Amino acid sequence: MAMIRLIASVGATLVAGCEGMQSSLHPRGPVAATLAETAWVMFIGALVITLLVTALLLYAAWRDPAKRAAVDGRRMIVIGGLVFPAVTLTALFVYGLDITQRVQPVPADALRIEVIGHQWWWEVRYPDFPDAVTANEIHIPVGRPVAITLSSADVIHSFWVPNLAGKVDALPQQQTGLWLQADEAGVYRGQCAEFCGGQHARMGLLVVAEAPADFSEWVTRQRRPKTATSAASVRGRTAFTTQGCNTCHTLRGAGATARIGPDLTHVNERHFIAAGTLPNNPDNLARWIRFNQEIKPGNAMLSFAHLDPQVVRDLVAFLRGSE
Ligand code: CUA
Repeated sequence: MAMIRLIASVGATLVAGCEGMQSSLHPRGPVAATLAETAWVMFIGALVITLLVTALLLYAAWRDPAKRAAVDGRRMIVIGGLVFPAVTLTALFVYGLDITQRVQPVPADALRIEVIGHQWWWEVRYPDFPDAVTANEIHIPVGRPVAITLSSADVIHSFWVPNLAGKVDALPQQQTGLWLQADEAGVYRGQCAEFCGGQHARMGLLVVAEAPADFSEWVTRQRRPKTATSAASVRGRTAFTTQGCNTCHTLRGAGATARIGPDLTHVNERHFIAAGTLPNNPDNLARWIRFNQEIKPGNAMLSFAHLDPQVVRDLVAFLRGSE
């Protein structure tokens, strides 16, 4: 029953914004628009050439041999086999250079963001706001270029948000990157696009594009340490240390600084937990703490099924903030 509810709620969340979701043919920014244009140029060009070649083939097969002999075979080879490919491929080469120029150079005024792939989640850091650290959810201001630096803490991952940009690998011990821009406010889903282990499929991310003022407010909130406002959340803050959560997670406001798992300071603000695996709500957070190895087998966290239910409720109260 719980499984059916989970599927229904995830389904509803996804279907709600499904039009063009995670589709490179529904670009919502200049980089993605250029790539979509390239895809259409290649597709239409290939279609025209396929029709042309098919027509010639049918002509050769079905035309009366006496009349077909009137076509000069040598000239056909020179035009169809040399001139036509040379002109087409040269035009494509020049077009390709132009596309590269439009997509690659990072605009000088870009907002800088560092994204680090982990098995199986995305760490997100804002070098201009060092204490604003999040996971699996990148907030960006609408209409401003964003330069994303990519790296990996373990194996090769691939960063791909099809509505906004192309696909670039995140490599261990080496930096790669790309830039993107969202021209419309919205939530854009992305996905790790390089097989990186058992839970590769559960390595999603969201890009939340919002008005510049909303983005600034979000950054301000992210930079604040977490506070415990209720009795339960004060107990939860203590449990965060006594139960060992602090050995893997950073949580500013609970004195935790480890960087093995995601920064949990403002986990309550994220749409999903576990890299797009579960909608973020108190029930799912409690389930994740106790049974995460059943939900996402092989992830780096231990299942805390042995915890007293009250301790789990306290932890959830602390992580969820003032609710
Ligand atoms: Cu990370 Cu696939």
